[in-house]
Amino acid sequence: MNSLYLDGVTVMFDGFRALNNLSLIIEPGELRAIIGPNGAGKTTMMDVITGKTKPTTGTVKFGNHDLTRMDEPRIAMLGIGRKFQKPTVFDALTVFENLELALKSPRGPLACWRWRLAGTARQKIQTTLDEIGLPDRAQDLAGLLSHGQRQWLEIGMLLMQEPELLLVDEPVAGMTDQETEHTAALLKRIAGTRSVVVVEHDLEFVRALGRRVTVLHEGSTLSEGSIDHVQNDPRVIEVCLGR
Ligand SMILES: Nc1ncnc2c1ncn2[C@@H]1O[C@H](COP(=O)(O)OP(=O)(O)OP(=O)(O)O)[C@@H](O)[C@H]1O
Ligand SMILES: [Mg+2]
Repeated sequence: MNSLYLDGVTVMFDGFRALNNLSLIIEPGELRAIIGPNGAGKTTMMDVITGKTKPTTGTVKFGNHDLTRMDEPRIAMLGIGRKFQKPTVFDALTVFENLELALKSPRGPLACWRWRLAGTARQKIQTTLDEIGLPDRAQDLAGLLSHGQRQWLEIGMLLMQEPELLLVDEPVAGMTDQETEHTAALLKRIAGTRSVVVVEHDLEFVRALGRRVTVLHEGSTLSEGSIDHVQNDPRVIEVCLGR
């Protein structure tokens, strides 16, 4: 597995620095939460990792791969997946069929063929159903799922592509407290065998993750550490009170 490495990354939009000399390392299998006020650069950071936005200056590497030299499809092929808020679930298909469909858009030209040969697609779907906590809903239409369950199914569809690094932007927006709790458990379950970077405003959720937190502010790292550490960091308190 590869580490994600950002060093001195700056993104300029018409003279405005959306990212300002940002440096960040995500270790293989790590689960990292990114928090910060609106406009801090969280989504821009994800855009830089997935190749949607090219940095003005700085280094972005995934293992030995220089992501600043690759386009979006190639970065996706490397195994960097991203969950968008816009739903990609097909309501008229079952949960199982949605996962099956995600498997059939192979990451590489040989991926599909390999699965067919091994005949393990069904087993892989079953594993994913367990990971996202929906094994009992496999034969239900996706249109019948709650908002939270749909989000989990989307994460499952991404998992079918076997990402090595998964980026998730505000997954618990609009979820009930119970769904939020389930989502924290889900992300903890799926990290370890892949790396997960999650951007979220919900501090209860971030606390439930119980992992290292990075606070972004004006395009750079303001603080990093446990949730207790960053919440008690005078620099973080000053930024919060100043708003
Ligand atoms: N394509 C763009 N052109 C110009 N400015 C942009 C562009 N994309 C983002 N910005 C600006 O860059 C800054 C950082 O935006 P970004 O979306 O990364 O913040 P964020 O931390 O994700 O905020 P939020 O919590 O609201 O999602 C904002 O001031 C935004 O207006
Ligand atoms: Mg954002």
